[in-house]
Amino acid sequence: MINMQNIQKIYRTEHVETHALSGFNLNIGSGEFVSLMGPSGSGKTTLLNVAGLLDAFDGGSYILDGEDVSRLNDRQMSRIRNEKIGFIFQSFNLIPDLNVFDNVDVPLRYRGLAAGARRERIEEALEIVGLTSRISHYPAQLSGGQQQRVAVARAVVGTPKLILADEPTGNLDSAMANEIMDLLEKINDLGTTVVIVTHDPELATRSPRQIYLLDGRLVDLEKDERPAPLYNPVENGTADNGMSA
Ligand SMILES: Nc1ncnc2c1ncn2[C@@H]1O[C@H](COP(=O)(O)OP(=O)(O)OP(=O)(O)O)[C@@H](O)[C@H]1O
Ligand SMILES: [Mg+2]
Repeated sequence: MINMQNIQKIYRTEHVETHALSGFNLNIGSGEFVSLMGPSGSGKTTLLNVAGLLDAFDGGSYILDGEDVSRLNDRQMSRIRNEKIGFIFQSFNLIPDLNVFDNVDVPLRYRGLAAGARRERIEEALEIVGLTSRISHYPAQLSGGQQQRVAVARAVVGTPKLILADEPTGNLDSAMANEIMDLLEKINDLGTTVVIVTHDPELATRSPRQIYLLDGRLVDLEKDERPAPLYNPVENGTADNGMSA
């Protein structure tokens, strides 16, 4: 699903050059469920944004679902994003003026689907996340966990092959976080590839594969080999890891 070779992303500002992704290979197969961990500033969001075609990369190659996405223009990238990828963010990113139904409808608007077909899909997605009874509520009328479930429904409604979730449980208590993880598992069971960024090692252990970023470098270890203290997000979480030149 994701095949990156020597992938590089460099942020340049006036004074510093940050190698946010400093040239690594990453292969994530179709149907995998992968947790991405690493200290703050290690490049997790950058990796997700590059993987999701929200951000361009500066070197290396990236094959997404068999398609070389290195040289696509903006329109081609939006098309692939809309067709193949569902995003979930820490802050839910729902549109406050739209009710639950219309929020979930957003990704479908760009497709040439008839209203009836859209309704069917939206209802199906809301059923998956257990929010059928909240279909006409507005985001402000929902709990945080429910809002995130709407965001999950919005991510899956277009039946993407890949779900990218950037700390989707970061604003939720542990019970709600586990519910979101249950949902992602369920979606993964239906065949969708899932990559989730999390700072919570316990949540991460629920996924079969965990990968780590450290200063823009990828560490992909089997569970038994993992040098736990090095990647303890509590210890390393706020440290400026000196990756900026
Ligand atoms: N737009 C930008 N311009 C310049 N530097 C950036 C930009 N976005 C990110 N960076 C830098 O790239 C590095 C990686 O950032 P990124 O947001 O990917 O980290 P992260 O692992 O997601 O961190 P967190 O856990 O805090 O969300 C950081 O050093 C950050 O300062
Ligand atoms: Mg981040």
